[in-house]
Amino acid sequence: MAAFEDLIHARRDVRHFLCDPLDEAEVDRLLALAHSAPSVGLSQPWRFVRIATPALREALAAHVDEQVARAGKIYEGQEDRLYRSLKLHGLREAPALFAVYCDEGTETGHRLGAMTMPEARRYSCVMAIHTLWLAARTRGIGMGWVSILDPATVDAMLEVPPSWRCLGLLCLGYPTSEEATPELERRGWEHRTDWHSTVVTR
Ligand SMILES: Cc1cc2nc3c(=O)[nH]c(=O)nc-3n(C[C@H](O)[C@H](O)[C@H](O)COP(=O)(O)O)c2cc1C
Repeated sequence: MAAFEDLIHARRDVRHFLCDPLDEAEVDRLLALAHSAPSVGLSQPWRFVRIATPALREALAAHVDEQVARAGKIYEGQEDRLYRSLKLHGLREAPALFAVYCDEGTETGHRLGAMTMPEARRYSCVMAIHTLWLAARTRGIGMGWVSILDPATVDAMLEVPPSWRCLGLLCLGYPTSEEATPELERRGWEHRTDWHSTVVTR
């Protein structure tokens, strides 16, 4: 129990990676563990697309840089300066890079649960991503989830089927440092708030 709690607290979103390569058998193992995640109707709608060429990696990194700059237009003054100084992806450095998709049209699971709440397929994919995140951390491998992108642009770059919905890019590799707190907290952008739940009494 204590080890699991430590794992939860030690998981970080990583953007600073060492260039040490990952063992491919280890990467396969992580994907197999992600594949054990729960999914609505057992639909297993996650699709992991490995980015294997330097040209595609650079095109994705340049696209995200562009989107980060564009999204930052809402900030001014000190907030703008802080935003510009943040590192919001490790796409150029991470030894392994994946795009992760939800297949919104999958017939696996016979659409059980997806008729009333189709977004449950995306939630299922998030479960797989989180499983991958934790599994990676148990091996000392860091993961960064990059979502500041235009899904249609990324879809066109990767030529994925039209029923696939982009959920982000995942950077995997050994982190340059082990950190106990989120990078955004260390940089003064935001802090983890106290948790709470809502109670309904009627
Ligand atoms: C759905 C999702 C999308 C995210 N997208 C980005 C992103 O584009 N860039 C980034 O730097 N961090 C991104 N993050 C990571 C968060 O910034 C990070 O989880 C948060 O700051 C807490 O830090 P921690 O994960 O180290 O606890 C994303 C996280 C989630 C869950």
